Amino acid sequence: MNAGQDRKQIFVQEVAPRDGFQNEPVFIPTDAKIALINALSDTGVATIEATSFTSPKAIPALSDAEAVMRGIRRNPDVCYSALVPNVRGGERALAAGVDEFNLVMSVSETHNLTNLRMSREQSAATLSECVKVAHEAHIKVNLSLSCVFGCPMEGDIDTREAFRWVQRFTDLGVDGITLCDTTGMAYPTQVASVVEQFRTLWPESRLTLHFHNTRGMGLVNVFAAVQMGADRFDAALGGLGGCPYAPGATGNVCTEDTVHMLNLIGYHTGVQLDALLDCSRRLRALVDHELPSQVLKAGKRLTVHPVPRSFEAIRARAAARTAL
Ligand code: COA
Ligand code: ZN
Repeated sequence: MNAGQDRKQIFVQEVAPRDGFQNEPVFIPTDAKIALINALSDTGVATIEATSFTSPKAIPALSDAEAVMRGIRRNPDVCYSALVPNVRGGERALAAGVDEFNLVMSVSETHNLTNLRMSREQSAATLSECVKVAHEAHIKVNLSLSCVFGCPMEGDIDTREAFRWVQRFTDLGVDGITLCDTTGMAYPTQVASVVEQFRTLWPESRLTLHFHNTRGMGLVNVFAAVQMGADRFDAALGGLGGCPYAPGATGNVCTEDTVHMLNLIGYHTGVQLDALLDCSRRLRALVDHELPSQVLKAGKRLTVHPVPRSFEAIRARAAARTAL
């Protein structure tokens, strides 16, 4: 399992510039966003969700979406996507030159109303129009479904209900579906079961999993999903992230922790962990709080530390003891 090509490929999709920055209390300057996205573009991530074309009143932190898209350097190996909640957002995203629309709606009626101010049917209607806009423009379109693994206001959501929305958009010809655990309610056996059912129903669909680490189950959920054959994950640099309209929401599963784990357990991500850690240090300087990232704090598993200065004395004393 050493050579990259012998290992199964897992695609890592970086979402900190959208899911992370949308939830930051302090506005991150546009230039700093652009510089971070440019640095992330050289780490080997497959996709970067660069911003969102939502209402600036709803998400003021990302009110500079056009300027960010215009300002970034485009690596042709990276797909630059953006969140789109309605036709207005789709038109803005198209004009700004995104590679992919990431359409969003929730499988929970309550969360959809809270987050998007629309019923699910209203969201589905406007997003169906967005699918047409994307197809006519020959750009990719992904659908992210929030609260698939539970809603902070409704509790458990019946998987059949979530899959009804998957079917509806699969019928419209979307290029991919993301099942989101918006507030970290997913647990590993549930994840394994949902991924298995999804794969059985839509074996050809491009499936992404989007986990939050709200209750410490983020990485174990990634592990459960890869074991069932999932190969595409959203993750946020530093473990930033959270939906401002979901009570108790906290950070996404952390990109560097995810890549670190996937490397160790024998998967190939194509992501350079050291470059990612450099990005995470850069991110730390942009936000005025600690990042949840574990690997940033602790270092990589085999980053060994020097022995204490008194080590030779300790060794000599131990040797003298043995001699007694
Ligand atoms: N981009 C920019 N402005 C938009 C917009 C978009 N995509 N959609 C609507 N607007 C503007 C309207 O022009 C209107 O502006 P005005 O007050 O100056 O006239 C205002 O927003 C309200 O429009 P309306 O259609 O009534 O929207 P709404 O208030 O019902 O909000 C959403 C609907 C979807 C636009 C809004 O709830 C939203 O952007 N939510 C984003 C939620 C989010 O991103 N959550 C985190 C990620 S899951
Ligand atoms: Zn999220």
